Amino acid sequence: MPSNMNKPPSRRGFLDWIVALGTMITTVAVSIPGLMYLWPAAKGGGDENVEVEGASKMATGQGKTIQVGSQAVVVVRHRSGFKAFSAVCTHLGCLVKWDQSAKAFLCPCHAAIFDENGKVVSGPPPAPLPEFVVKEIGDKIFVSAT
Ligand code: FES
Repeated sequence: MPSNMNKPPSRRGFLDWIVALGTMITTVAVSIPGLMYLWPAAKGGGDENVEVEGASKMATGQGKTIQVGSQAVVVVRHRSGFKAFSAVCTHLGCLVKWDQSAKAFLCPCHAAIFDENGKVVSGPPPAPLPEFVVKEIGDKIFVSAT
């Protein structure tokens, strides 16, 4: 048996161990949010197919906001089928809402209006809302960025 096994742990050794443990916990606590921020981008965030829950129950003209990767997307059921557009206004990034009665996307920040195809009707946005890919597989609807 080694001779140092019979000695009680020193105060200095105990404090070194506590400091090392604290450093390790702090490093993990600081790293996790950073890794979670980078993780969707690292795997190509937003490229995966996301099922639109309850799509079959949506009425014509109804819209729904979903999350595709890290992006907010508005899915609208038209007579011809489903369409999906980014919910992020191309002006300064506010979230647009689908107005079923106006058949338009409205931005609350600077009163921009986008038509049902995401094109700018009025207001300051410099570009239309980016469109997402919609796939119908059986009776399910999936949305992806590409
Ligand atoms: S952020 Fe949408 S109009 Fe300005």
